[in-house]
Amino acid sequence: MTRAPSAPASGPGHTTPPSTATAIPLSDPALAERLADRMALVDTALDDAVASADALADDASRHLVAAGGKRFRPLLTLLAGELGDGSNPQLVDAAVVVELTQVASLYHDDVMDSAPLRRGAPAAHTVWGNSVAILVGDLLFARASALVAGLGPEAVVLQSRTFERMCLGQLHETMGPGADDDPVAHYLQVLSDKTASLLATSARLGAMFGGCGPEVVEAVAAYGEKVGVAFQLADDVLDIASSGDESGKTPGTDLREHVPTMPVLLLRQRVARGTGTADDAALLARLDGDLSDDAALAAVVEDLRAHDVLAETRALAVRGAREAAQELEPLPDGSVKDALADLAGALADRTV
Ligand code: IPE
Ligand code: IPE
Ligand code: MG
Ligand code: MG
Repeated sequence: MTRAPSAPASGPGHTTPPSTATAIPLSDPALAERLADRMALVDTALDDAVASADALADDASRHLVAAGGKRFRPLLTLLAGELGDGSNPQLVDAAVVVELTQVASLYHDDVMDSAPLRRGAPAAHTVWGNSVAILVGDLLFARASALVAGLGPEAVVLQSRTFERMCLGQLHETMGPGADDDPVAHYLQVLSDKTASLLATSARLGAMFGGCGPEVVEAVAAYGEKVGVAFQLADDVLDIASSGDESGKTPGTDLREHVPTMPVLLLRQRVARGTGTADDAALLARLDGDLSDDAALAAVVEDLRAHDVLAETRALAVRGAREAAQELEPLPDGSVKDALADLAGALADRTV
């Protein structure tokens, strides 16, 4: 078998996506420095965790980790850990577990969504083909499983339940709502399962291995769950509103592949309820049609950018983030609580 060369993470036509340094607003410089130091440990451990003796497995597994990403989930673990003893080395392992799980799911997601670009680099399936991308995703899930075993049975159960929810979320996204389901409610459940589950677990593991009490653990997990839905709603906005340079992904990918997103669901709801205009119905018909042509895709992206369903989705994300911040109420006051609250707002209204 010939081995495809690893594609560069950046270069002509690609930009390196944002680092964690820009992904999280931190007003306490001492906290920012501690987190940056711990994230450096996570990055080193992540590098070790994806290493393989097999050259193809090694190349393909490193591809997305090396391409960067926001590292938001491990950062959430470390930040939640700061509510207790943030220096516990198990926090680094937990952070690696959640990022490995994230990266593995991205390999699979890009196959399912036929996405060409990820983290500013060509998606793995465009470099090595679908089979390799799927197998590498599985391999990284296996690495996450091995690592989480060292964190004890509670963490193992958490990880497996999270993994199950991610699969179910993706399954329900793929199958769509049943005849008796409300499509928007169905979609919000998809977002909870496919995305919020891992954010909730990232926060929960942080508080757990920071040695926090059950009230704090449950509060940050509830926060993570709500932030996760807001985060994914913001992702739906980004598919339409962002430039590929900002997000490291190709705008309009979900639209082209007819992957459901909230702005399109809201438009569909208006048309189904008879509250939409004739232009709304025409736009929906184009969205449901063939978008393989670049000009046709660019035209629907432009029309959606100007449509108030986009602002409505943004407003849902902002409201979700506000509700997430309210879950922090039982936490002790201080810079960690403030950072978590600021983070919720920043994620809902993000541009990357
Ligand atoms: C992408 O997550 C998948 C979603 C759940 C939207 P991120 O936007 O956190 O992607 P990376 O990890 O920074 O690449
Ligand atoms: C990603 O969902 C969900 C995962 C948990 C991987 P999307 O398909 O909406 O995310 P992007 O936009 O490709 O990052
Ligand atoms: Mg997807
Ligand atoms: Mg996708």
